[in-house]
Amino acid sequence: MFQGGELISKFKEIDFSIIIPTYNESENILNLIDAIKCNLPDNINAEVIIVDDNSPDGTGSIVEDYIRTCENPGYSGCSYLGSSGNESTATGDFESRIFRLRVVHRKIKFGLIPAILNGISASTGKYILIMDADFSHPPETIPILIRELIRDPDSIVVASRYMLGSSIKGWPYKRRLLSTSAVKIAKHSLRIGNISDPISGFFAISRNVVENVNIDSMGYKILLEILVKVKGVRVKEIPYTFVDRRSGTSKLDLSVALDYIRSVWRLYRYGQQSRPKQKSDTEKRSSVRFLSKVGRFYTVGATGLVINFLISYVLSNSITNMWYIHATTVGIAISVTTNFVLNKIWTFEDKQFQLGSTLRQYGLFASISALGAALQLGLLYIFVQSGIQFGLSLIFAVALASANNFLLNKKFTFHEKIWD
Ligand code: GDD
Ligand code: MN
Repeated sequence: MFQGGELISKFKEIDFSIIIPTYNESENILNLIDAIKCNLPDNINAEVIIVDDNSPDGTGSIVEDYIRTCENPGYSGCSYLGSSGNESTATGDFESRIFRLRVVHRKIKFGLIPAILNGISASTGKYILIMDADFSHPPETIPILIRELIRDPDSIVVASRYMLGSSIKGWPYKRRLLSTSAVKIAKHSLRIGNISDPISGFFAISRNVVENVNIDSMGYKILLEILVKVKGVRVKEIPYTFVDRRSGTSKLDLSVALDYIRSVWRLYRYGQQSRPKQKSDTEKRSSVRFLSKVGRFYTVGATGLVINFLISYVLSNSITNMWYIHATTVGIAISVTTNFVLNKIWTFEDKQFQLGSTLRQYGLFASISALGAALQLGLLYIFVQSGIQFGLSLIFAVALASANNFLLNKKFTFHEKIWD
């Protein structure tokens, strides 16, 4: 047992900082801290940093109280350093090694990645280990992660649920499917090498590796972001048995799932931007861009048909009892207008809205639509006359006329090259 200054001078360098984000983990947290203590290798100085988002079940204060009991002289091998601002610390010297426990309190629940980032910046260890608080990540695996990272400090050591020797206990089929789909999405859309569990929440990494990554602080999957952003990093995976939480509830909900899709998309974009451009890439992107515009143009066309039909139908029927020719004329006018607006904003992403030039574009768009209608009629006539069945003729005529509309609008209305 030591006091004040003596204690601080006795602080040896911390080897491992174990970061544990918590939200409503009151039933797990103290057991977990004890289990971690028991599983730490003898020669490792470690700190455990609990990052709590003001859990309503009092997780943060439970840890705080625990730290305070360590202050009690009767408590063996543990000493309380004191509370400063929003952090508390307890330190113990277990024979030759240091074990420190700290809690970082955050005012509101603000997501997993920011909590982990807070924990990392509050930590001092040379190496970082991240894990969940709900015993899904067995503390018995910690020494293996520690050993492997020390063996190769430039690598990332990941505890994997999806390799030979791993298993998952207690997850319903739906949750399993969700997780494996998330893994598949990540592996197919991002360049992350051959890793079986890129969204694991249980891994170890050197501080200097993680501190070189600019993490977006959005979403749930910090590992995925690190894997995308640290180019060519070696990954060592360790199998383990993931056990569904013993108590409390999962915080994974629909918004987390949507967040996930969004963050994979952002990482995908990140990968595209940071990759050196090759000729085949540019070509591929031109064709993707062209096809996506074609797709959008046809989608807009389809909404136009629906709008046209609905307006013509409603006007000529119930409300106004308009003459059907008038009703259809209004339907056509409105759908041409909505088509124009949608194509301008969405298909061609044209952000110029000066009145004069927009009206000119609108006039051109409407004229091309009229031309398209005439072309469609003409083609239909020719096809049917040459003996092609009416349905087939109609499909060909519509396809050709609308392709012509697309190309003319791309070039003349929105001033784009046909192919760029
Ligand atoms: N501070 C803080 N803030 N902690 C949080 C928050 C938050 O907003 N949300 C969750 N946590 C804590 C939980 O208390 C737990 O310790 C850990 O983060 C993981 O949360 P769970 O709710 O248990 O996640 P899970 O078991 O559904 O998800 C597991 O699988 C994912 C991949 O499928 C975890 O291992 C994730 O880390 C993993 O990415
Ligand atoms: Mn969990």
